[in-house]
Amino acid sequence: MQILILNGPNLNLLGKREPEVYGNTTFTDYFKTLQSKFGDIQLYYFQSNIEGEIITKIQEVGFSFDGIVLNAAAYTHTSVGIGDAVKAIETPVVEVHISNTHKREEYRHVSYISPGAKGVILGFGLQSYDLAIQSFL
Ligand code: DQA
Repeated sequence: MQILILNGPNLNLLGKREPEVYGNTTFTDYFKTLQSKFGDIQLYYFQSNIEGEIITKIQEVGFSFDGIVLNAAAYTHTSVGIGDAVKAIETPVVEVHISNTHKREEYRHVSYISPGAKGVILGFGLQSYDLAIQSFL
């Protein structure tokens, strides 16, 4: 089974960025935890701050992988392009967020990803990614 974890803008700063919201762990460290927990799965990780690169990656794996765990970060709330890419592919996408976006500013309550997603997991910290992977098993 091949699953891609795809992170959007500013998530490369996890561990440093607003730790009171996003925690103290870097994603590189957390990815190692996921790899050892889900040893039977081929897990891949890609992060980009650039909208077009995220769309290209979705297209690249979207007809062959078994699942995409997508945290489009700020693009969640703005990107018709990423939302359309999620709808265009065959691979199921689970949308994740570290924080509970519904408890935060109103502009974070809108998602352009959710209409095309298989499901949404949010508010469980980095564990949201773990739960999303489990949803594909
Ligand atoms: C986020 C929530 C978004 O609103 C924000 O722009 C992010 C991270 C989350 O994982 O909680 O960058 O997607």
